Amino acid sequence: MSENIVWHHQKVTRADRASIKNQSPCLLWFTGLSGSGKSTIANALDVALFERGYHTFLLDGDNVRHGLNRDLGFSDEDRVENIRRIGEVSKLFTDSGVIVLSAFISPFTSDRRLVRNLFPAGEFVEVFMDTPLQTCEDRDPKGLYEKARAGKIKHFTGIDSPYESPERPEVRLDTSQMSVDDCVNRLISYLLDRQLIFTSPQANGA
Ligand code: ADX
Repeated sequence: MSENIVWHHQKVTRADRASIKNQSPCLLWFTGLSGSGKSTIANALDVALFERGYHTFLLDGDNVRHGLNRDLGFSDEDRVENIRRIGEVSKLFTDSGVIVLSAFISPFTSDRRLVRNLFPAGEFVEVFMDTPLQTCEDRDPKGLYEKARAGKIKHFTGIDSPYESPERPEVRLDTSQMSVDDCVNRLISYLLDRQLIFTSPQANGA
C-alpha cells in the first residue's frame, strides 16, 4: 500500500445507507466448479429478492472478467487477484447498503477466507455449489470442459487446476439433486432464519 494515505470517515454511515433501504446488507458468495450452477442459482435468487423489494446486486465471473478484471487470466496468481478485487468490490456494495451476490469459481480456500474476513460475523454467507464434476462436465454449457480435456485450454479448474472445496460453508447446494426452485427456497430460508432478510423488507426497520 502507498504511504501518506489517510482514511476519510464518511458522514453518511453504512448503517444509514442500509436503513434507508430498510434492509441488512450481506454478501452471498457462490463458489464451485464451472457448470456447477453458480450463475443460474445466483440469478434466480437475485430475481426472488428483487421481487420481494430488496436492493441487490449480482457480480458474476464471466461479466467481471469483461471489464474490471479484463487484465487477469487463469494463473493461480491472477485468480488470487481476481478474488481479492471482487471481495473489495463486494465490500463497497455492502457498505452502500446492498445485498450482494457474487458468483466466481474462487477455487482457493485462502482467498475465500480473505474475503470472509472483510465482513462482520454473519454477513458473509458462503454458498458451496457442490455439484459433482461429472455433472458439470456432462453439462459443459460453454464447451470448455471438452476443450480442456483436449488440452486446448490450460489450467482449467477441475481438470488441470485444483478446486479446494469449502469445509464449512453456510449453505451447500448440489444442482444434480436439487431444482433451481429448491436451491432458491433453501437460500431464502437461510436468509430468513438468520434475519438477514424479512418476509417483507418494510418489516425490517433495520
Ligand atoms: S476464478 O477461478 O478466478 O474464480 P472466474 O469465476 O472469475 O474464475 O471465471 C471462471 C469462468 O471463466 C468459467 O465459468 C469459464 O467460463 C471461464 N474460463 C476460461 N478459462 C478458464 C479456466 N482455465 N479455468 C476456469 N474457468 C475458465
